Amino acid sequence: MQHIPVLLTETIQSLKVQKNGIYIDGTFGNGGHTKEILKNLGKKGMILGIDTDPQAYQIGKKILDPRLILINDKYSNIQKHILNYNLKKKINGLILDLGISSFQLDNPKRGFSFQKKGPLDMRMNPQIGISLLQLLNKISEKKLTKILYKFGNEKYSKKIAFEIFKHHKKKPISNTLELAEIIKKTIPFKNMLKHPATRTFLALRIFLNQEIKELKKILKISLKILKPGAILSIISFHSIEDRIVKKFFKKNSSAIEIPMGLPINELQLKKKNKKKIKNIQRIKPTKLEIINNKRARSAILRTAEIL
Ligand SMILES: C[S@@+](CC[C@H](N)C(=O)[O-])C[C@H]1O[C@@H](n2cnc3c(N)ncnc32)[C@H](O)[C@@H]1O
Repeated sequence: MQHIPVLLTETIQSLKVQKNGIYIDGTFGNGGHTKEILKNLGKKGMILGIDTDPQAYQIGKKILDPRLILINDKYSNIQKHILNYNLKKKINGLILDLGISSFQLDNPKRGFSFQKKGPLDMRMNPQIGISLLQLLNKISEKKLTKILYKFGNEKYSKKIAFEIFKHHKKKPISNTLELAEIIKKTIPFKNMLKHPATRTFLALRIFLNQEIKELKKILKISLKILKPGAILSIISFHSIEDRIVKKFFKKNSSAIEIPMGLPINELQLKKKNKKKIKNIQRIKPTKLEIINNKRARSAILRTAEIL
C-alpha cells in the first residue's frame, strides 16, 4: 500500500516554511512531508531528512534535489549531524511524524504486521538492537507482562505473556501470524474493528525500537537546536506519545512555581522561570482525511514556537 502522509497540509502550514529556511524532518519515511516542504522552499533553503530505516534512506536517495540532505540515523543523534553541517541554532523547524510507515508495515519481511506472515523482527533498523525473537528468547514472563501493559495499555498483558511463554517454551514461535493467533485465542475478541493482537504488537514495536526514549530525547534536544521563532511540529498516533509531547509543551510554556521559602538566588530563579515555547496548538485530522486514510484516525498534531 502507498504511504499517504497524515495531516500533510496542517503540518506544512504549522511550519510556516520560510523560503531560505533550514528544516529537519526527523522521520523521513517515504518523504511525504519532506517533498511538501521542498515545494515551499526557495533555492537557498535546505532540509535534513533523517530516518533510521536503511530502506527509507535508499528510497529517499532517489529524490535528486540538492536542497535535501538525507541521513540514515536515529533522530536522537541529530546534534552530531547539525555540528557536521555547521547548522547550530540555524534550524527553522523540526517535524516528527512518529511510528512506522505503511511501507514498513506492509512489508511482511519486516515483521511489523499481525496480518502478514513474517519473521519475528520489528526493528526499524534491522542492524540495530535485538529482534523480537531474540527478545522472546531472553526476557522473563514478568518483564513481557510489563512491556505489554506499559507500552500497549494491554489489560490482558498477564494472560497474553503467560500464553506466549507457554507456547514459546513448547515450540519456539516462528512467525508473526503464529504470534497473532496465540493472542487471538487468549483474549476475548469483542471489537471487530480492532484485531486482538493490535496492542501487543504496538507495545513490542515501541519497546524494541525504544520509541519513548527516542521521543523524550529529541524533545529535550529540540530546545537546543532550534532558533528563536522556529516551529516544532509533532504528529503522534497513540496516547503514550501524545501525553509526552503535551506534558513537554506545557512544562516549557509556563513559568515554574517555586515553593515559598525555598533558598534560591535571583539568577537561578530567572533561569527556572524562563518560558521556552509559545503558541501551542493541537490539530486533529478532518473527517474527510480519516475517511480517505484510516491511519489518520488516531493522529494528533501538536505544534509550538520556540522563544
Ligand atoms: C510515519 S513514518 C513517516 C512518514 C513520512 N512522514 C512520510 O510522509 O513519508 C515514520 C518514519 O520514522 C522513522 N523513525 C521512527 N523512529 C525514528 C527514530 N528514532 N529516528 C529516525 N527515524 C525514525 C521510521 O523508520 C519511519 O520511516
